[in-house]
Amino acid sequence: MQNNLPSRLKILRSTPLYKGGRLLIDVGCATGYFEVQLASKYQKIIAFCPHEGEIKTAKKATIGLKNVEVSLNTFGSYNFKDAKADMVYLGNCIHYIFIEYKGWSFMEKLLSISEDYLIIEYPYDINLEESDMIVLKNNLISKGLYKLFTKKEMLKYLLPNFTLAQTLKSVSKTREIIVLRRAK
Ligand SMILES: C[S@@+](CC[C@H](N)C(=O)[O-])C[C@H]1O[C@@H](n2cnc3c(N)ncnc32)[C@H](O)[C@@H]1O
Repeated sequence: MQNNLPSRLKILRSTPLYKGGRLLIDVGCATGYFEVQLASKYQKIIAFCPHEGEIKTAKKATIGLKNVEVSLNTFGSYNFKDAKADMVYLGNCIHYIFIEYKGWSFMEKLLSISEDYLIIEYPYDINLEESDMIVLKNNLISKGLYKLFTKKEMLKYLLPNFTLAQTLKSVSKTREIIVLRRAK
């Protein structure tokens, strides 16, 4: 199965993502796996990604799930209007958004839609000698963005708006999952 999805969902079961709620925004939803698994747990799911093939598959997979809205968008192009989600999930896509915005300026938009929980599964150490990290690192270097893409930089924007509720190892050793909760 692509992207270790069932094993990752197993890990995410111990997080509030799996508990459900009012509105889930799934950024970079790919083929809609999480939408199918989580549709019954949320009143509404907004999901999008910028790849036509993935969205075609996601739309097919979610036919009949009336509370799931799937669309072809990047984080930058999606018009959230005044949407406030109690759960925002960024699964292995924050580096793409970082590249789209050429830095962390998208954090303002991310914070504005995240009312309660924000879960980010992300490449946690760009200097790991794993092949996927080397590809990403070279890509960031070629764009002059390498030094900014660190956990410390990311958390600078998220804390103190959020508190770090959980840190989990993902299936891949290059990925980590952080669960953030809006500070009261
Ligand atoms: C590695 S896949 C992860 C898919 C899924 N979220 C998961 O956790 O398995 C990265 C996803 O991010 C999407 N993506 C790429 N650039 C994006 C952007 N600028 N904004 C939002 N999503 C983006 C891709 O289309 C793809 O669906």
